[in-house]
Amino acid sequence: MKVLLTGGAGFIGSHTCVEFLERGWEVVVADNFSNSKPEVLNRIKIITGKSFTFYEADVTQRSALDKIFTEQKIDAVVHFAGYKAVGESVAKPLMYYRNNLDSTITLLEAMETHGVKNLVFSSSATVYGENNPSPYKEDMPLSTCTNPYGWTKLMSEQIMRDAANADSNMSVVLLRYFNPIGAHPSGLIGEDPEGIPNNLFPYVAKVAGGKLPKLGIFGDDYPTEDGTGVRDYIHVVDLAKGHAAALEYAVSHKGIEAVNLGSGKGHSVMEVVTTFSRVNNIPVPYDIKPRRAGDLPSYYANAEKAKTLLNWEVELTLEDMCRDMWKWQTQNPDGY
Ligand code: WQD
Repeated sequence: MKVLLTGGAGFIGSHTCVEFLERGWEVVVADNFSNSKPEVLNRIKIITGKSFTFYEADVTQRSALDKIFTEQKIDAVVHFAGYKAVGESVAKPLMYYRNNLDSTITLLEAMETHGVKNLVFSSSATVYGENNPSPYKEDMPLSTCTNPYGWTKLMSEQIMRDAANADSNMSVVLLRYFNPIGAHPSGLIGEDPEGIPNNLFPYVAKVAGGKLPKLGIFGDDYPTEDGTGVRDYIHVVDLAKGHAAALEYAVSHKGIEAVNLGSGKGHSVMEVVTTFSRVNNIPVPYDIKPRRAGDLPSYYANAEKAKTLLNWEVELTLEDMCRDMWKWQTQNPDGY
C-alpha cells in the first residue's frame, strides 16, 4: 500500500511515517517545512533503515498535489498538514482559516480528480468544545469551539463528512487526538516547537534541560484532585500506531467514522511534573501562575470506540512518555 502523508515531517507525521515504514507500507511525504525541519527525514531513514519519497510542497497548492498524484499511485492519504497553535489562531484567525481549510478542500478536490478514496484526518479533541462532559464520546453534539484552530478542525471534519456523503466510495476516519506527548524511544525524533513552547510537556523538558528557568503552572485552583489542570496524555508512538489501525480500517470499509485517540485516563499538571522528575531523576522548578485564558479544568477521552472499531488502545504509560521525552531532549537540546 502507498500512503501520502501531508505534513509528514511534523511531530506526529514523522512518528507515523516511521510506524508505516516499519509495517512495510510505501510512504510519500509532502511537507513545506513551515513547522518542521529537513533533518527529520534523515532521522526517519536512520530509525527504519528504509527510504521513502519526499516532496517539498504546500498542500494548499493544487498544482503540487496534482504532481504528486500523477507521479505516485496513492492508495490512501493521512492529512496532518495544518497550523496547530491555539494561541496563535486567536491572534491570527484568517491565517488559520485560509491555511487549514484551503489545504483540506484542495486535498479533497485533488483526491476526487485522481480517484483516491481513502483518507485519515488529524483532528483534535478541541472539537468537543467547552460544554460537553468528560469523558468525551464521538457521538456527542459538536456545537462550539473555543478557538479558531478548533473551528478549522471542526469545519474540516464537516467538509469531509459532506464529501463522503456525496461519494459512496469514499472512506474517511477522523482521528480526534487528545494530548500527544513524548518522543520515539530512539531519541532521534521528537517534538521540536519553534521558540518558547506553548504546550506543557515540551516546556517541562526545556526547563529540566536548563533551556528555560522555570515552569509556570497555569492555576492550582481548578476543581480537580490537586487543583491543577487534567488532560488525557497519549504517547506519540501509541498515536502513530492508532493511525496505522485507522488506515487498515479505512481501506477495508466505506463511509466516515470519528474516533478518539486517547488513553481514557486524565493526569494533572502536577502529576506530569512530579512523574517527569521522578522517572528522570531531574528537578523541574516551577511556580504557580494565574489560570491561562481558554483552559478547561479537565477533559479526557472515552476510548471505547477505538478499541472496538480499530482494535487499538494505548500501551505506553505516562512514565514511558516522560522517559522518552527526556531522551529526546538530552540528545537534541536545541531540537533538530
Ligand atoms: C496542558 C495542561 C495547561 C503549559 C493543546 C491544544 C489541543 C492539542 C493539545 C492540537 C493545561 C497546563 C501548559 C504551561 C501549564 N493540540 N500548562 N503550563 O491546552 O490541553 O491542548 O494541545 O490538537 O488542541 O489546545 O495542552 O500542553 O498547552 O496544556 O500549566 O506552560 O498544562 O493549563 O492544564 P492543551 P497544553
